Amino acid sequence: RSSSSGSTQKTLAMIKPDGMSGNYTNRIKNVILESGFRIVKETIVQLDEDTAASFYAEHSTKSFFSNLIKYITSGPVLVMVLEKENAVADWRDLIGPTDAHKAKVTRPHSIRAMCGLDSEKNCIHGSDSTQSAQREISFFFKEVSTGAAVTEHDEL
Ligand code: PPS
Repeated sequence: RSSSSGSTQKTLAMIKPDGMSGNYTNRIKNVILESGFRIVKETIVQLDEDTAASFYAEHSTKSFFSNLIKYITSGPVLVMVLEKENAVADWRDLIGPTDAHKAKVTRPHSIRAMCGLDSEKNCIHGSDSTQSAQREISFFFKEVSTGAAVTEHDEL
């Protein structure tokens, strides 16, 4: 099965409202494909506050949480499942640091340097671990196998 063979991994990417309104979708997809990722699934959604708060639950105690929820619900987002070897770490590397202002200085070729502004309007999301990737993929795409060990029956 090509979708889960070898050591490929899946991760979740999300083009945030500023990336969508700035028409960065095609440029971001080009970078994704040129970097060797396959786009397995994609959907455009308008998150409501409850759904956004559930997605970002781990940050609920942070001082920026209400701003984050307001921002991420301010317009549609494009959610994608990306697949390649080492997808989780490679995608985090490709998007660059959280603070897009810092990204422009330290990682000028990263996606956040291309389309982000600061720590809030940073245009793109990436799962921060394989566990997060499994949770976040299931959050948006109930039917996608995450390639987690528990679902790889042929390995057990
Ligand atoms: S932390 O505290 O290290 O876990 O946070 P960090 O990984 O840097 O960021 C987690 C997500 O919160 C967003 N964020 C913010 N939103 C609004 N305002 C401020 N100041 C802010 N700081 C961080 C950040 O963009 C991360 O979103 P995702 O979608 O996970 O990239």
